[in-house]
Amino acid sequence: MGRIVVITGSPRINGNTNKMAGAFINAAKSKGHSIDRFDAPYLHLDGCHACETCFSTGRPCTFDDDFNRIAPFVLNADGLVYVFPVYWYSVPSQIKAFMDKFFSFYVTGRDLAGKKAALISACEEPDMSTFEGVRFMYEKSCSTLKLTNVGEVLIPGVLEAGAIDNTDGVLKAAALADLF
Ligand SMILES: Cc1cc2nc3c(=O)[nH]c(=O)nc-3n(C[C@H](O)[C@H](O)[C@H](O)COP(=O)(O)O)c2cc1C
Repeated sequence: MGRIVVITGSPRINGNTNKMAGAFINAAKSKGHSIDRFDAPYLHLDGCHACETCFSTGRPCTFDDDFNRIAPFVLNADGLVYVFPVYWYSVPSQIKAFMDKFFSFYVTGRDLAGKKAALISACEEPDMSTFEGVRFMYEKSCSTLKLTNVGEVLIPGVLEAGAIDNTDGVLKAAALADLF
């Protein structure tokens, strides 16, 4: 049984992606995995300053924010699940600020190889091409960081909080736990 870090990026606590996050977490826990969940919109995350002094002070980032608290969980995890809505064909800024700090792992040669990763996302527009930006970012990042992408749950056509209930998104998010 593994340790899975779930990082969410929607400020809507009862929104579509958080509902899918909950379904994934419940399913993963029922399989015996342990979960550490971090909700980026409610954390202090400043993004990368590109100072390239990562880990030189004994902390992952010289500019102290919640990333320094979360980084050890990521480094010790067996899996990593990103959960966020599409904002302007891209990643919401709060979780992007967190992801930018993965530069500290990359630039210091800290390997994330052997860890599994997955993406859960939703957007308003009905066209799957709306996900192209977040898929590109996620898949290229996995490749660069040597994470193994085990699955993506991408649900289009949901705008209002709760609209996810009219889709198979929650079921698919729960099923994703089978891949960890
Ligand atoms: C700032 C902002 C930008 C958005 N940009 C897009 C977009 O580019 N394409 C799209 O289809 N939906 C966009 N949406 C809609 C959300 O992706 C959609 O409402 C989603 O279901 C929200 O998920 P949540 O309930 O987990 O917050 C945007 C919403 C917000 C608030």
